[in-house]
Amino acid sequence: MCGIVGYTGPREAYPVILKGLKRLEYRGYDSAGVALLNNGLKVYKKKGKVADLEESLIGQDVHANIGIGHTRWATHGEPNDRNAHPHLSASGRLAMIHNGIIENYALIKKELLSKGYTFKSDTDTEVLLNFIDEIQHHNECSLEEAVRVALKRVVGAYCILLIDKEDPHTIIAARKGSPLVIGIGKGEHFLASDATPIIEYTKEVVYVNDYELAIVRPDELILKNLGNEKITPYVTKLDMDLAAIEKGGYEHFMLKEIFEQPKTIYDCLRGRLDVANGTITMAGVENYMEQLKNAPRIIIIACGTSWHAGLVAEYVIEDLCRIPVEVEYASEFRYRNPVVNKGDVIIAISQSGETADTLVAIEKAKEQGAIIFGVVNAVGSSIARASHAGAYTHSGPEIGVASTKAFTGQLAVLNMIALKIAKAKGTISDERYKNLLGELEAVPEKVETILENAAAVKAIAEKYKDSSDALFLGRGYNFPVALEGALKLKEISYIHAEGYPAAEMKHGPIALVTEILPVVFVATKDSYHEKVVSNMQEIKARKGRVISIITEGDTISPTLSDDIFAVPPADEVIAPMLSVIPLQLLSYYVGTAKGYNVDMPRNLAKSVTVE
Ligand code: M6R
Repeated sequence: MCGIVGYTGPREAYPVILKGLKRLEYRGYDSAGVALLNNGLKVYKKKGKVADLEESLIGQDVHANIGIGHTRWATHGEPNDRNAHPHLSASGRLAMIHNGIIENYALIKKELLSKGYTFKSDTDTEVLLNFIDEIQHHNECSLEEAVRVALKRVVGAYCILLIDKEDPHTIIAARKGSPLVIGIGKGEHFLASDATPIIEYTKEVVYVNDYELAIVRPDELILKNLGNEKITPYVTKLDMDLAAIEKGGYEHFMLKEIFEQPKTIYDCLRGRLDVANGTITMAGVENYMEQLKNAPRIIIIACGTSWHAGLVAEYVIEDLCRIPVEVEYASEFRYRNPVVNKGDVIIAISQSGETADTLVAIEKAKEQGAIIFGVVNAVGSSIARASHAGAYTHSGPEIGVASTKAFTGQLAVLNMIALKIAKAKGTISDERYKNLLGELEAVPEKVETILENAAAVKAIAEKYKDSSDALFLGRGYNFPVALEGALKLKEISYIHAEGYPAAEMKHGPIALVTEILPVVFVATKDSYHEKVVSNMQEIKARKGRVISIITEGDTISPTLSDDIFAVPPADEVIAPMLSVIPLQLLSYYVGTAKGYNVDMPRNLAKSVTVE
């Protein structure tokens, strides 16, 4: 979380930084700030959104050719002006921004307090900054050297950018655990948490690795490790265009991203799925097929929506490949003492590829000898690079905090992986294999049909928008979809929502059912459909308000439902890619009907790079 931007070169730094911060605002929007260097170091920062900072700076002298900027998701210290970044060192000489958490900051702060330092904020960042300042002062060394010494003492995660009043062209940057991309222009450099602030200036970028330090000047980029050895920067070309990160006429990124799904799913399947020849081409899977096919167990690690995609994959892989699958919250896996046996394969799922918990869980599994297969959206991200093999979802940049198109992209990739393994293992009949390839190919068109009826979901949203609670129920493949529907609703509309396996209701939650409780059934036609209908009866008998996502042509569920939304028929393996769409729309329309900023829901950030 937190977005960071830096610029050094001949342009005006402030507009570059401001625009970059707006693009990174999805990473946190508790406060924003910039530090500009021009005849002195000026720091401007403010609680609230980047737009609030921009407004407060109208009429101020923001001229500078070097600067750093930050948009914050608060960890240490409440969101206010004082705790906003950049921070200034006690000497007034250095300004720093930080994304991450310094876990041993309290100890370092104690040391600094005993040396007479005082602090203006409650942040761990200001502690690290003054620690660097103190080392530089005490050792009479360069800033670069002081940063190196300080970072060797630091426990935690960081991406830091520093500027020094005495060195008007240089930005010093370093990372461990939190992302950093450097864009290489002609006589200028751009630094950012991801590539979105950079792409309109240059497509040539360097992804900085953990424990690397960058000394960045307009015409020079020096990369070093913490042992002061030079590293040759590895320059890659960005495969992204500006349109992909703009709203394109939609009111919100979330809506744009929901409506993009026919295309993003198609892009994910394109070049891989060949129905006519009955093949799926995925180099990452092919290279590791022996290990995947013979895995005694697959462990899926992920968080949030990606975890829900993992739960769907558990059903698919066990069903089609007959390999036992466990799905773990990365945040739990990393702190347990998990048993990872020889041959076990870890599938790590992540949209951003930067989720700290998933990243650390990967490292932990690697230490135990596991093979890591990454299913990631963000190209070149930390998780993609930490995996032995993998497959990108090719969903394009996802900017709305609520994950939507990434979920269907993940399901598309995971279905293809399962089908490939099942085919290689011989655990699927030719007929079912062919049928499922055809079903996958048809998904983009079916999603299009669903989106054409978005107005019907909007009407349902209007009806239930004032509810204080909601339940989402499903069975089998649709149980994880119910969980996902509940997560979407709570994060976007702040309505308390819970997802449950429909059959579990009778073990407790049915006590919640009243005449005003909306109960959303994900009830598309599958092998459990009759059972789900019985569960619907149970809710109706208690006068609950039933909203059902059903398959076109289902005549029974409507008789038990107050509201229905029908999706095209599909095999149960594929159905979650369809049944989730109305749930995404429902949360979007409820959130907007309540007047919330659905792209930036309260307390959240898109990329969770702290634990
Ligand atoms: O980038 P990741 O897929 O690793 O992110 C995982 C979760 O943080 C993410 O899915 C989160 O739950 C979303 N806000 C859900 O909409």
